[in-house]
Amino acid sequence: MLIRKAPDLRFSDITPKSLYLRRREFLKAAGIAVGAAAAGVASPFATDAAAQQKQGTGHGGKLANVKKSPLSTTGEKLTSWDDITSYNNFYEFGPYKEDPKENAGTLKPRPWTIQIDGFVEKKGTFGFEEFTHPYPLEERVYRMRCVEAWSMVIPWVGIPLKDIIAAYKPTSQAKYVEFVTAFNPAQMPGQRTRMLPWPYVEGLRMDEAMNPLAILAVGLYEEELPNQDGAPIRLVTPWKYGFKGIKSISKIRFVDYQPKNTWQVMTPHGYGSYANVNPNVAHPRWSQATERRIGTFFRQKTLPFNGYADQVASLYSGMDPKKLY
Ligand code: MTE
Repeated sequence: MLIRKAPDLRFSDITPKSLYLRRREFLKAAGIAVGAAAAGVASPFATDAAAQQKQGTGHGGKLANVKKSPLSTTGEKLTSWDDITSYNNFYEFGPYKEDPKENAGTLKPRPWTIQIDGFVEKKGTFGFEEFTHPYPLEERVYRMRCVEAWSMVIPWVGIPLKDIIAAYKPTSQAKYVEFVTAFNPAQMPGQRTRMLPWPYVEGLRMDEAMNPLAILAVGLYEEELPNQDGAPIRLVTPWKYGFKGIKSISKIRFVDYQPKNTWQVMTPHGYGSYANVNPNVAHPRWSQATERRIGTFFRQKTLPFNGYADQVASLYSGMDPKKLY
């Protein structure tokens, strides 16, 4: 008997049709594969260009002095490097899971700057090295649960977000933290299309951002983050759906309003700002009760707060769970 696997849901499945470009259209609009080679004209640079495009999407530099964290999830099989780096959502490089690995070689994660702005004492634009250097790197093994109902277990390497926030000294007016992905259509071909309102934006309430589980990741499997996973620095909040994990961050703003995150703007009836994993609150189009662990065959139950309730549930005491989605 032939057993077919149900195809995974895609964010594009719930993206308004008028804005969603199919893959061919995306590639064309983004100027990928419509150059000389695709047109059948021999180019002496074709091979070099193809090789260059892959740079940064494979194994990168080894990270030194990474210490194991007691906050890591234990007892679960890690998702393989290959799955973590080839099954991605990163719309700046295309709407399909295989697109980011294929196309993210154009992203240059160095030199990189991060701008700190808003209600904060130490404003300014800081180089990646200055921004990350003072902190010891920690390995944090976390489950990642995508709102599309698949999941992974990822050995991130990162820095506690609370330590970074404390160093820049937000003022009492700062109620939320807004994160913004770099806007660079020359390096991010998806930004040359109208698939999403660019740049990608995410937000956290200040106390969520200060929770010890929240990290800014700079690597995985003790190596630098490959481009498709959000090089050089991305957010990881394991109790929330994966779309909160904004990639390739270039701005962090301390604000007094709840930031409008990109998927909330795109689909106001589907995604909220909190986006806490909750198996009992279905998405309008599908159940969130179970998930497919990438690399395994069977579905498994989804846990409230993705299994991290002990560490984070108190942040939301007294709030209506439906408001936390
Ligand atoms: N960040 C940016 N800038 N652009 C994106 O399209 N996709 C989000 C999130 N961060 C996205 C992003 C979604 S929908 C998910 S599920 C995770 O990244 C996927 O992270 P991964 O590809 O490393 O598994």
